[in-house]
Amino acid sequence: MTAVHLWLRHEPRPTERRTPVVPADARRLIEHGITLTVEDSPQRIFPTGEYEAVGAQVAPAGSWVAAPDDAVILGLKELPDDPDELTHRHIFFGHAYKQQPDAEALLTRFAAGGGALLDLEYLVDDTGRRLAAFGYWAGYLGAALAVLHHRGRLAAELTPTDEKALGELLSPDSGDRDISALVIGALGRSGRGARDALAAAGISPTTWDLAETQDLDRDALLAHDLLVNCVLATSPVPPFVRPQDLDAPGRRLRTVSDVTCDVGSPLNVLPVYDRTTEWADPVRRLRDEPPFDLIAIDNLPSLLPLESSTDFSASLLPQLLDFRTDSGPWGRCLARFASASRELGIKQG
Ligand SMILES: NC(=O)c1ccc[n+]([C@@H]2O[C@H](COP(=O)([O-])OP(=O)(O)OC[C@H]3O[C@@H](n4cnc5c(N)ncnc54)[C@H](O)[C@@H]3O)[C@@H](O)[C@H]2O)c1
Repeated sequence: MTAVHLWLRHEPRPTERRTPVVPADARRLIEHGITLTVEDSPQRIFPTGEYEAVGAQVAPAGSWVAAPDDAVILGLKELPDDPDELTHRHIFFGHAYKQQPDAEALLTRFAAGGGALLDLEYLVDDTGRRLAAFGYWAGYLGAALAVLHHRGRLAAELTPTDEKALGELLSPDSGDRDISALVIGALGRSGRGARDALAAAGISPTTWDLAETQDLDRDALLAHDLLVNCVLATSPVPPFVRPQDLDAPGRRLRTVSDVTCDVGSPLNVLPVYDRTTEWADPVRRLRDEPPFDLIAIDNLPSLLPLESSTDFSASLLPQLLDFRTDSGPWGRCLARFASASRELGIKQG
């Protein structure tokens, strides 16, 4: 095996407490002969000392910019805006291949520096199945927040919690018997999480996936109180809810939790809003009478940082132990980076 140096970076987003590698899995990487540098990070759910204790080298937050050329920089969410030139190979969720607003700028930074994006969303096996994803906890939280809001018990600002505390908040309420909920994308990872959260709240949702939306019954959709959207859109489909549906007479739908958060993308199935909501202000009212409230938080699993990091790290570990970009899943990531850049007319080195 060629020597591999992984560099776990600090996440610049202040609310991001998750990590793609937990200390127990860091130990496995180091035992396997991988060099692991871990940036100190005040907010990461696992203290830096736990990584140091298993043999990781520690570096200051943000020092990846000066990491050795061969280091592979590992993170989850967006990079800071500087530097303009990205010289390393970076593993993270780039959100840059679906015509998102910042896609071109990010891919241009890679072209300028000669680095590469190995996007975790496109780390797939040879059948196209995602190998590491946060979907389950995203769906769980998306549905949980929708229920709590519907019950009038969602306290802002949201703060990270754990599964037990959330489960207690969710426990069935006598007023819930009449709540009708719909989960779309119900057969996927986040759909499963959403169904589990609704079950924990004592609600049996309607569940739709590809088969049920092929010939979309929008009236049936609008006849639910809650909608949790968990689809992974790969090609454009007619929108599930359009702006005019918010004004449809007799609309029952009050609360939408958009786990997918494809806002700004042509693949967006809920083109009724133009920006995500935040932990400080998780619900946005789009209509007053009757109310139509939106929850669209794009870092839901960060609200359960311990559980979601542990799950994710367990799925990522085998891929990191076998890190190579000439073939296999990482090779496919590299090829996807090249083709996505080409589609935007950006030439990578
Ligand atoms: N908000 C967040 O914090 C957060 C976190 C993780 C993932 N996500 C997003 O959640 C989405 C779902 O992720 P996942 O891991 O559950 O994906 P997944 O592939 O496991 O599941 C997606 C499901 O959507 C279904 N689907 C696709 N198109 C559909 C359509 N037109 N109608 C009905 N069903 C359709 C698929 O059949 C599949 O069952 C992704 O867009 C992902 O990026 C958001």
